[in-house]
Amino acid sequence: MEELRVFCPATIANISCGFDVLGVALDSVGDEMVIRKTPKKGIFITKLEGQDLPMETERNVAGVAGLALLNESDYDGGFEIEIYKNIKAGSGIGSSAASSTGAVWAMNQLLGKPFTTSKLVEFAMEGERLASGVAHADNVAPALFGGFTLVRSYEPLDIIPINSPSELFATVIHPQIEIKTSDSRKILKTHITLKEGIKQWGNLGGLIAGLFTEDYDLIGRSLEDHIVEPIRSILIPGFNDVKKGALTSGALGCGISGSGPSIFAFSKGEATAKKVALSMKKVYEKIGIDHDVHISKINTEGVKEI
Ligand code: HSE
Repeated sequence: MEELRVFCPATIANISCGFDVLGVALDSVGDEMVIRKTPKKGIFITKLEGQDLPMETERNVAGVAGLALLNESDYDGGFEIEIYKNIKAGSGIGSSAASSTGAVWAMNQLLGKPFTTSKLVEFAMEGERLASGVAHADNVAPALFGGFTLVRSYEPLDIIPINSPSELFATVIHPQIEIKTSDSRKILKTHITLKEGIKQWGNLGGLIAGLFTEDYDLIGRSLEDHIVEPIRSILIPGFNDVKKGALTSGALGCGISGSGPSIFAFSKGEATAKKVALSMKKVYEKIGIDHDVHISKINTEGVKEI
């Protein structure tokens, strides 16, 4: 096999109570990439459509993630990369993670799978380091494994795949303002109180238990963030109204997707997820901000060949 076309899913990171450790892959939105072997050593971005992003290998997240893989591989050729972006950069649904994971996953397939999925997460994290200054894994892990994933530990890296309840749907609204992850990390506090910690890890444990037991009420009760959301939500116009509307429309919970500005809600069943989408749209129509809405099942496969 010399060439692969792949679908690279969008992802929701943090999921309210799991800052930097929890993420989930979406089904209905993602990028496409073509990765091709070439005898010339190195990584070459030959096409980039849909977004205005750098094509130089060292300045492109797919390029940097690909180089991380190439450096640990005994393959003495290289790869060409074509990127077709549907996920907008700075939208909060894992745009950089989609490009990084698509590159390393396809390269691993083309080389006969010398690396484990966990090792691919490490390579893809180099793309995240370039994009945000921090090599967080909460978008790249679900993009590679599919479904929900927990980063139990960064040192050493320990990724735990989590069950995806079959009736769970995500609604994501992207108000068209750009928030750079690097900027929205700078405003966070670096210390929390024990009281805040207790609330947060109680919810994180509850959410994981709810996902495994498919207890939708428990999932809903656990979708709370007492640490990051109060700070970051200030950057997102209409956040409180969107959240209120989503919950009134039957969502289990609602919060900031990754570093924003996208806002996600989880619902039991597609009909509720659609109602939630309408209520979210109303808020941005009223304040006059352009927006995209996605309603998606949980993607349990992750990045895949198409
Ligand atoms: N955990 C990261 C953050 C995700 O919130 O900064 C960025 O998509």
